Amino acid sequence: MNRKKTTILTLHEKKLRGEPITMVTAYDYPSALAVDRAGIDTLLVGDSLGMVVLGYDSTTPVTMEEMLHHCRAVRRGVPANGPWLIGDMPFMSYQADRAEAVRNAGRFLREGGMDAVKLEGGRAMVDTVRAITDAGVMVVGHIGLTPQSAAQLGGYRVQGKTAADAQRLLEDALALEAAGAVMLVLEMVPDRVAARISRALRIPTIGIGAGIGCDGQVLVLHDMLGIFDRFTPKFVKKYAELGPEMERALAEYRDDVAARRFPDTEHSFLMDEAEWEKWVGGLGIGD
Ligand code: KIV
Repeated sequence: MNRKKTTILTLHEKKLRGEPITMVTAYDYPSALAVDRAGIDTLLVGDSLGMVVLGYDSTTPVTMEEMLHHCRAVRRGVPANGPWLIGDMPFMSYQADRAEAVRNAGRFLREGGMDAVKLEGGRAMVDTVRAITDAGVMVVGHIGLTPQSAAQLGGYRVQGKTAADAQRLLEDALALEAAGAVMLVLEMVPDRVAARISRALRIPTIGIGAGIGCDGQVLVLHDMLGIFDRFTPKFVKKYAELGPEMERALAEYRDDVAARRFPDTEHSFLMDEAEWEKWVGGLGIGD
């Protein structure tokens, strides 16, 4: 595909033109290749990898080292003119100490090859967003349902359902934009609330369970491809069922090996007949 490099300006221009921005998560080299080849605008190395790739019960155990390991794999799969890359700052890599937050954000660019970082939280994160931005790292905000603090929110629940909560979300969004955030993820927010916030902001909003009125959409790769089946949120549309397909292929392989149908001649290396005769005849050891 003949593409120009995706930059934050490209994405802001898309918002101005009213063109939806596409984003998906990916965590390794082959999925990064697929995301690039599909022409998706931006790729998020989300801390959701803790659940869908590493098998944790939530995103909170994910470490900086785990995130950077996956960011590097993704970077290797994406050419210079590929999607804009966002690294997700894991739990406690930015909440406790502002200087540490800046250092960790820098590691996503320097060691992980990312173009920007994402962090969760509204007004409480404003000073952190400003500090990271001032250090020269672009920040994507994330409000609504914030999985790292889901327990505090009473679980995985829609946020902004009352007029007061919706107003709070709008104020959080405006505060993050004023602090320098270049983009904002809205997760599990009623569609009309997300649309109103999107209109109020100059920066693009990316919705996940936030309706059609956002400036773009993001889904978790393993949810949309049907690989992760522990639970499927209402907002996920499955575009494939690769989990069952992987299991079918593995069972067929197991049966082929057990029945000695694999490897067949097509998948074996053959020896020239004359060489074979020379070898077994010459040595006199037969076959
Ligand atoms: O970690 C993640 O994948 C995310 C998306 C759900 C936006 O934060």
